Amino acid sequence: MIMKPYKKICNMSGAVIAAVLFMTLYTFGLNTAAEEVTAQPRLEKTVPFIAFYSRSGKTRMTAESLQKKLSCEMGEIVSKKDRTGFLGVFTCVLDQLLDRDDVQDAFPRTLTAYNPIVIAAPIWVGNLASPVRTFLKQTDIKGKDIYIIATYNGKLDAEKEAAIQQFVTAQGCNLKKMYKVITKEKTRQDIDGEVQIIAQELSRDADKKQQVVAR
Ligand SMILES: Cc1cc2nc3c(=O)[nH]c(=O)nc-3n(C[C@H](O)[C@H](O)[C@H](O)COP(=O)(O)O)c2cc1C
Repeated sequence: MIMKPYKKICNMSGAVIAAVLFMTLYTFGLNTAAEEVTAQPRLEKTVPFIAFYSRSGKTRMTAESLQKKLSCEMGEIVSKKDRTGFLGVFTCVLDQLLDRDDVQDAFPRTLTAYNPIVIAAPIWVGNLASPVRTFLKQTDIKGKDIYIIATYNGKLDAEKEAAIQQFVTAQGCNLKKMYKVITKEKTRQDIDGEVQIIAQELSRDADKKQQVVAR
């Protein structure tokens, strides 16, 4: 007689537990299915940024031309060293020969949201100009896709070019390509023509990357 209500309660609790278990599994199962249906391929947006250093204006011209074509943002690497005139050039040469760092503030833009980063840089004594090397060392570009556009007068041997590529890669980024633009006696129009080809390649690379991520 005493056992009967107790048995009833036990049966009821069993039913409640079973119902809760069923609801949980049902809801969980539904959520998973819903996630499977709505999961979209993640599109990695490529938002390029151009960083440039220019002492006498040619690299600035190159960077500006690319910025117009890509309609992206751009920032200047600013050296605090006086690099004007004969003494300025002497400072540049010494920085290169002695592998000296530049004196500069931290780059004023945070590059986290951007990829790839295009870096336009003059060649000084067969290497990237000191302000650009310092920028590469002190800016967090780890894991970023990097394009270098080196401007120069046409004198850069293969060994030195390989050393530049090695230095860039050693900063922890993914060097996609190093372009070279000869600026000597070139007009803005000439430079525009060369940059056009670079812009087309960069756009093609961006399209390819988005397709790969979308797959
Ligand atoms: C100190 C110094 C060293 C240079 N060394 C080289 C070099 O080794 N090879 C080369 O082809 N051009 C060299 N150049 C030429 C520059 O790379 C070229 O003029 C570049 O486009 C200048 O860019 P900017 O006008 O933006 O400063 C040198 C220029 C300077 C000032």
